[in-house]
Amino acid sequence: KIAARASPGPDGPATPLEALRGEVAACRRCPLHGPATQAVCGEGPRDAAIVFVDEQPGDQEDLSGRPFVGPAGQLFDRALAEAGIDRGGVYLTNAVKHFKYEPRGRRRIHGKPDPGEVRACRWWLDRELAALSPRLVVALGGTAAGALAGRAVSVLRERGPARFGARAGFVTVHPSFLLRLPEAARQADEYRAFVADLQAVKAAA
Ligand code: URA
Repeated sequence: KIAARASPGPDGPATPLEALRGEVAACRRCPLHGPATQAVCGEGPRDAAIVFVDEQPGDQEDLSGRPFVGPAGQLFDRALAEAGIDRGGVYLTNAVKHFKYEPRGRRRIHGKPDPGEVRACRWWLDRELAALSPRLVVALGGTAAGALAGRAVSVLRERGPARFGARAGFVTVHPSFLLRLPEAARQADEYRAFVADLQAVKAAA
């Protein structure tokens, strides 16, 4: 069985996004659901002009069930605020809805989703985007860009305005790239470039 049916809410049938939430929770399209605590669905208003697509939930997202609440999410929030974008007004989701990790002692180390897992989860991303009507879809990092474009994408080469099929898009780095940079000076430069990308996103949406 692939997905459970979402039951109608107290006020009538579930909206497409609510229904999707229930279905994603029961997803067995790839093995990642096994070790994960729960699927993490997108979050934000249905009429959001901008949809941000990240890679996959991390440790804290897996535990809380909400996207982008851990260290990368906090950096993203800061950059969004600096670019003048209200997080409550945008829709945030992940290309892959379950946390992929390797247990190491008591820690869970992030594992990059492979192309098969990204392809399996694209089923949900397509439905999520169809239930929204964004003016711009922003890929944060190569996994999201690859999922949206349906091919491998080099963020270095394709950073900036993009098309994802019929949709207007934008490719930029994943915030965890900034967190991994060893030198403070490089980190500050890259952070400024990321905020500039978000300002361009705001202007384009
Ligand atoms: N990294 C992501 O790509 N998404 C999250 O929700 C958290 C960390």
